[in-house]
Amino acid sequence: MNAPAATRPGALTPADVRRFAFRQGPGKAHLGEQHLVDDSAPTTSALPPGWARSATGVPLSLGTHELLAATPYPGPCGPGTVAALEPRDLLGHLLTTAFGLQRREPSHRYADHRSVASGRAKFPVHAFLAQGSAVRYLDVYRHALVDVTPPGGVAAVTGDGTSVLLAARYSDLPAAYGRMRYAVTEVELGVNLRSLCVAADLLGVEARLALDGGSTAEAEAVVRSAGPGTWSAPLAVRLGGLAQVGPSTPLPGPDGSGPDSRDPLLESDDPSIRDMAAVSAQRHGLPTGPQPPARGLPEGGPTGRTDWAQVLWNRTAGRMPDQLYGFALRPAEVSADALADLLAWADRPPPDRLLAEVAGRVRLSVALQRVGGLPTGVHRVEGRELTPGPVRPMIMAALQPGFAQQPSPNTDSGMRHAAMVWVHSVDIDALLDDFGPSALGLLQLGLGWSVHGLCLAAAAHGLVARPARSFVEYHVQPLFGLRREETPVFMTVCGTSRFTEPMLDLRT
Ligand SMILES: Cc1cc2nc3c(=O)[nH]c(=O)nc-3n(C[C@H](O)[C@H](O)[C@H](O)COP(=O)(O)O)c2cc1C
Repeated sequence: MNAPAATRPGALTPADVRRFAFRQGPGKAHLGEQHLVDDSAPTTSALPPGWARSATGVPLSLGTHELLAATPYPGPCGPGTVAALEPRDLLGHLLTTAFGLQRREPSHRYADHRSVASGRAKFPVHAFLAQGSAVRYLDVYRHALVDVTPPGGVAAVTGDGTSVLLAARYSDLPAAYGRMRYAVTEVELGVNLRSLCVAADLLGVEARLALDGGSTAEAEAVVRSAGPGTWSAPLAVRLGGLAQVGPSTPLPGPDGSGPDSRDPLLESDDPSIRDMAAVSAQRHGLPTGPQPPARGLPEGGPTGRTDWAQVLWNRTAGRMPDQLYGFALRPAEVSADALADLLAWADRPPPDRLLAEVAGRVRLSVALQRVGGLPTGVHRVEGRELTPGPVRPMIMAALQPGFAQQPSPNTDSGMRHAAMVWVHSVDIDALLDDFGPSALGLLQLGLGWSVHGLCLAAAAHGLVARPARSFVEYHVQPLFGLRREETPVFMTVCGTSRFTEPMLDLRT
């Protein structure tokens, strides 16, 4: 991508975006974009924006865990349970359900786990709450909505309703990811969007996604006023019928308003960051359209035997013991019910007509092994049904070399024992031809939406679900019987964990 186009967001041509899509996707290994990641290299992960470290704000309500424990999966919460909540606590429960801390694995090198999966647990997606002229930042570690207080005043969102603004910050992910940070951050925006919509559905709150350029620009002004950092184009979600969370009060504990040793990383001049932001900014060109209610839960999914506190606690991408990399699975049968549930979650389209149209171009396939008596091999997903392909008893073993992390003395990949490997694929050229340059971002949002559904459904059945962006596209493509034009763009590996250990419960 040439520099002048990349620095002027509106000026990217379809060819620029096509080259970028190749560079951060199938071309990443050939073009030297994929480096070994040094986990000790600092990032800005979990660092609040500079003006969101103030001493005042609104503490979040307690008792979300009890509320969710009383909510059978797949939900929603009983109307009486929601009616019994203090109206001003409802929003706190909603945000904690969507984004809250869940557990700490004491021996694990990665950060604490939350309701959502995140690349290397870096959580580049940050949430802001705008109500009238008040803007607050969700700080999960302070368990509070912290006042955003820039000296020049914070930008505001039009109207006096409630908006949640989601934006991803590139410097939170390892710099060695290069331009692949684009796909990871945009997919994570989709993951967080679905998590928010699921939480809203559970609590009976109406959510609407405002994806148009005007709403994006307004949200971006708010996010930028929170301090230095290079952000993706934000998403704005309007929540209906909620009380004001304020007034703000002094928050307990230290305010963290002083400088942080990682602050200089927020202002990186890395050209890959500039390119990613320019491609993400294509959302500024989206037209205004109807905003139907954004529903996150599947329609008429099978009933489970668990509750929502357990589902969020269970949600995991799997792991290895201390000092070892990757994730470990063991061979185990998975029921047809579990498969049906994952299909129901994948079948719920994302909100917004254009976003749903782009998502409709994506093909979902799944390789199965030991699932509900079905043949081992690759199956095509059509709605909630499967069309079996040829039987391939060794499909998982054949896929394993396509996963970025290979088994070695210090690493395992659970791929060979996976029960299901879900692959999203699409003809990117045709997508960009038909929908224009903004389609690359819409594609990632739709992927995140779908993948988070798979992760939640897997958790409801006690399964690990590992989302993966780092895999060898050219290895996976023929094994899934995809046409040359059709690129695998995301993978989710599901199965039964081989390893677990006692964990610290961080739920509130
Ligand atoms: C968008 C996205 C991309 C990811 N890519 C990879 C990947 O390429 N390889 C991998 O092993 N894990 C990948 N992960 C999984 C994360 O590493 C995992 O979610 C993180 O370690 C946190 O663990 P938890 O999900 O168990 O909380 C990805 C997760 C997300 C959301």
